[in-house]
Amino acid sequence: MNRLTLPPSSRLRSKEFTFGVATSSYQIEGGIDSRLPCNWDTFCEQPNTIIDNTNGAIACDHINRWQDDIELIANLGVDAYRFSIAWGRVINLDGSLNNEGVTFYKNILTKLREKNLKAYITLYHWDLPQHLEDAGGWLNRDTAYKFRDYVNLITQALDDDVFCYTTLNEPFCSAYLGYEIGVHAPGIKDLASGRKAAHHLLLAHGLAMQVLRKNCPNSLSGIVLNMSPCYAGSNAQADIDAAKRADDLLFQWYAQPLLTGCYPDAINSLPDNAKPPICEGDMALISQPLDYLGLNYYTRAVFFADGNGGFTEQVPEGVELTDMGWEVYPQGLTDLLIDLNQRYTLPPLLITENGAAMVDELVNGEVNDIARINYFQTHLQAVHNAIEQGVDVRGYFAWSLMDNFEWALGYSKRFGITYVDYQTQKRTLKASGHAFAEFVSSRS
Ligand code: NOJ
Repeated sequence: MNRLTLPPSSRLRSKEFTFGVATSSYQIEGGIDSRLPCNWDTFCEQPNTIIDNTNGAIACDHINRWQDDIELIANLGVDAYRFSIAWGRVINLDGSLNNEGVTFYKNILTKLREKNLKAYITLYHWDLPQHLEDAGGWLNRDTAYKFRDYVNLITQALDDDVFCYTTLNEPFCSAYLGYEIGVHAPGIKDLASGRKAAHHLLLAHGLAMQVLRKNCPNSLSGIVLNMSPCYAGSNAQADIDAAKRADDLLFQWYAQPLLTGCYPDAINSLPDNAKPPICEGDMALISQPLDYLGLNYYTRAVFFADGNGGFTEQVPEGVELTDMGWEVYPQGLTDLLIDLNQRYTLPPLLITENGAAMVDELVNGEVNDIARINYFQTHLQAVHNAIEQGVDVRGYFAWSLMDNFEWALGYSKRFGITYVDYQTQKRTLKASGHAFAEFVSSRS
């Protein structure tokens, strides 16, 4: 299949439904000399952190190529572009605004407006200024207040041009991958640290929401979570319990406080030193109303009991995998949306990321990524199915506009609907990009 199709009556085929493409600052910008060093610059310098020993120093050189990149987005015919601001590009060491950095993002906003593209800005997509990491990073409660101050300055500087703000992208990854199992910056492996970082990130979100309400009453404001629905590997009660525990500790750990003001009950089973350091008023700040909840979906997770009261994840045998080794499981997206809708009183939902890394080859100037088209097709259908069952989903963003720096996996994994030749920085729209463009422009 090389086209994307949905029934003519599908909500995804109406202009009311937002289609976009997404990126993030560290993964595409480069231009590290014109901003403060960040945690990822430092992490990449440490041995055995990034699989191909690369870093984001040049990445897609978007700092110099942003105009062409926005042309590319406009040519796709999408409604919106989701990108992030590098905190250390817009705020100086002394906490003042960096005018050059602000101008970079203002120019992007101006060009997006010219092209009739809505700006969806993420305020934190994992690149923490190194001096804040040195001061404890997300283990230091003060980082949440520093984040509030940065959000206050940048949102005033960008005026009213921003359609939608996201406080944090995937706090799970910052906290769990960064401070609990150490595969992301800053590389700390400690349960108590992971839980503490998570709480301070959620607090940062709450503080930023207050600022956004005041400074940007005309923008939508919310947060983006990565969620994988959790399934038990067998019908054994121990495995069912393990899947529930994994879901609570990994995914509901964020959704539940945001939407209800409480952590999951699994909090009671954490050792005392690993319980989140909750101060009076924190949970009310964290659970302020959201204009939308963004969800990033890639795959499901299947768990077994590990025999010690914990859980282990196992990818089922014989299933289709992406180049990340992630199972292709579109039904999981429908299940996730329906489950969230049953559990919580939800704001409107956006699928802020969905996509797949595949082994792409540029042959005669073309990338025929049929497997990625198939991935998009089945996942768009999964969103459609959830909407048919009553879930209020308002938008869908493909991850990613272009191949980029895939964190600990460096440039070895390609998620783009545009191929990037890192030697020449030439961009080539893949077959999936053509299919995506054709689909969005065929909407009524
Ligand atoms: C989620 C993250 O937001 C993004 O930065 C990452 O590249 C994709 N997932 C793919 O792993």
